[in-house]
Amino acid sequence: MKKTVVTFAKAKQEGTKLTMLTAYDYSTAKLIDEAGVDSILVGDSLGNVILGYEDTLSVTMEDMIHHGAAVARGAKEALVVIDMPFMSYQTSVYDAVVNAGRLMKEGRAQAVKLEGGSEVAPQIKAITAAGIPVMAHIGLTPQSINAFGGFKVQGKTEAAAKKLLEDAFAVQEAGAFAVVLECVPDKLAKLVTDKLDIPTIGIGAGADCDGQVLVYADMLGMFSDFTPKFVKRFAETGKLMTEAFKQYNDQVKSGVYPTKEHTYAIDDEVIEKLY
Ligand code: KIV
Repeated sequence: MKKTVVTFAKAKQEGTKLTMLTAYDYSTAKLIDEAGVDSILVGDSLGNVILGYEDTLSVTMEDMIHHGAAVARGAKEALVVIDMPFMSYQTSVYDAVVNAGRLMKEGRAQAVKLEGGSEVAPQIKAITAAGIPVMAHIGLTPQSINAFGGFKVQGKTEAAAKKLLEDAFAVQEAGAFAVVLECVPDKLAKLVTDKLDIPTIGIGAGADCDGQVLVYADMLGMFSDFTPKFVKRFAETGKLMTEAFKQYNDQVKSGVYPTKEHTYAIDDEVIEKLY
């Protein structure tokens, strides 16, 4: 059965953990879906993982729609959330609603995610009023990397922790159905989780969040440009892939592959007439 925002609300009420992984293509989405993961995020980490950018700032609406629609085709049960890229919602409430609508209509998302706290509450309010569920994202918000001056843990001082809690309440009040907490000390994430009615989805925010999200290429060991402390590698798929690519290269060059079993037959008479 297709998971929805109601699945998220129910999980919070019942105290069952939620799972979310990123995906950017049909085949990966299908595998994640078949594994029973609750939700797939078409993250703008697409910029780093798939497009090879240094940050997420260059990702466009067209990128998100293109990859989002592919993921949506592969996700039969998982709730599909598509990230709103940099400058698709910060500019105005109007832009936010129009672009969230495009991610739903053209990308076939079931919900959108955007970064920021109280400063984007009007956008969250307007998008949810248009019937589009919003997942908020606070703490380390990679689209503000230049303002932060790097990838740093957020909410460590009393003032910063207070601001994070205020932001969590602001996005809940604005109508978000869930909130991602990225790179937040575990005790602060627990406090936010205990105080909010909506589920918190942690990434580098400890075990007490209502759910967890990871970038799939990180947890499979496929992306090695940088590996944050919070990543656990559940497989060394990157090494397996390189090994398989090497074998293919060697076998084609040495004539081991392809063999008869990989080829299609034709009657000798047909071929002889062509010589
Ligand atoms: O873009 C992304 O993958 C994300 C997750 C890290 C939460 O926003």
